[in-house]
Amino acid sequence: MAEIRLEQVRKVFGDLVAVGDVSLTIPDREFMVLLGPSGCGKSTLLRSIAGLEQVDGGRIFIGDRDVTNLPPRRRGISMVFQSYAVFPHMTVFDNIGFGLTMQRRPEEEIRKRVQAAAELLHIEDLLKRYPAQLSGGQRQRVAVARAIAIESQVLLMDEPLSNLDALLRLEMRAELKRLLNELNTTVIYVTHDQVEALSMGDRIAVMRHGKILQCDPPIAVYNNPAAHFIGSFIGNPPMNFLTARPAGDKAAVLVSNTAFPLDTQTAGRLQGMNGAGLWLGIRAENIEAMTGPAEGALPARVLVVEPLGSHNLLTVQVGDEQLKVNAHADTTFEAGQEIWLRLSREKIRWLDKNTGLALV
Ligand SMILES: Nc1ncnc2c1ncn2[C@@H]1O[C@H](COP(=O)(O)OP(=O)(O)OP(=O)(O)O)[C@@H](O)[C@H]1O
Ligand SMILES: [Mg+2]
Repeated sequence: MAEIRLEQVRKVFGDLVAVGDVSLTIPDREFMVLLGPSGCGKSTLLRSIAGLEQVDGGRIFIGDRDVTNLPPRRRGISMVFQSYAVFPHMTVFDNIGFGLTMQRRPEEEIRKRVQAAAELLHIEDLLKRYPAQLSGGQRQRVAVARAIAIESQVLLMDEPLSNLDALLRLEMRAELKRLLNELNTTVIYVTHDQVEALSMGDRIAVMRHGKILQCDPPIAVYNNPAAHFIGSFIGNPPMNFLTARPAGDKAAVLVSNTAFPLDTQTAGRLQGMNGAGLWLGIRAENIEAMTGPAEGALPARVLVVEPLGSHNLLTVQVGDEQLKVNAHADTTFEAGQEIWLRLSREKIRWLDKNTGLALV
């Protein structure tokens, strides 16, 4: 059992609050992704869990042990660092087997596990080399292999694929996911790559300025972002946001001067919010582009058409705002064309424009 529990964990560097009172429970065997922009505190939080940073407040539990004041080696974790530290004076084989050697495992077992980890990461031909004779991407894979070979109950990984080229990254992403599933390990995986987060995580904790803004399964974070920042950070293209204003009628809002009718339930939720300013959030794939007007559809003008093979990505102007819209690959929209947009109502997210937070 290796549940990880953080209670009000805090880490400051001088005036800077790198991690601000983070509470989070990661059940045994969960694959948790920490996602957020550079400098938001991901590495600091991970290093605090590993014991490489002494926290300034709060408690950290691994399994049923309070490890807050334990040194790293007594926490039962293995870690891949963002800087993928490997030992320069050891061969790749010895680097991967390092943790196992420290645990005084039998030689045959070490050989097998090093071989298996090396094969997984496609570095089995490099076992006799020294790190100086490797590329950055290969060195990073050595670090990942070393962490995996230990088979500890908790695996902390800080941007472990960041130095790989796009194709290898795609392949490793799927293989790592499969492997970590089989290992029965609790994983915390740090990335600032939202595609990696969506594809790998059981849950994603989205961080900003040292805080966790939302922690949900990938599809929930994608469909129901808790804040404007999350919708515009996750997804390619990001979620669209349109300003909605009061329409003088409780059953509608004005979106770029078009009355946008609301169902009773939504009207109820938005009541009292109308004056304060709203955002209507909607993803590109939940907008239908039409060549003629229709009830409740928003008039728009096509600015750019980008054929992407599977579909066409349209950039359109709605009032003084711009949106991204997915259209079928076989449609023939042109720049300058007047079109109408139908939004999938059940996919709309309403947010308070002042706080940036979603209304629930
Ligand atoms: N040892 C340190 N001393 C002072 N400030 C630090 C130290 N380590 C980190 N910081 C600061 O704490 C904040 C969080 O840093 P952290 O490394 O956790 O970010 P991150 O989310 O991992 O970013 P990245 O995606 O760039 O790796 C940053 O503003 C950083 O400059
Ligand atoms: Mg980092």
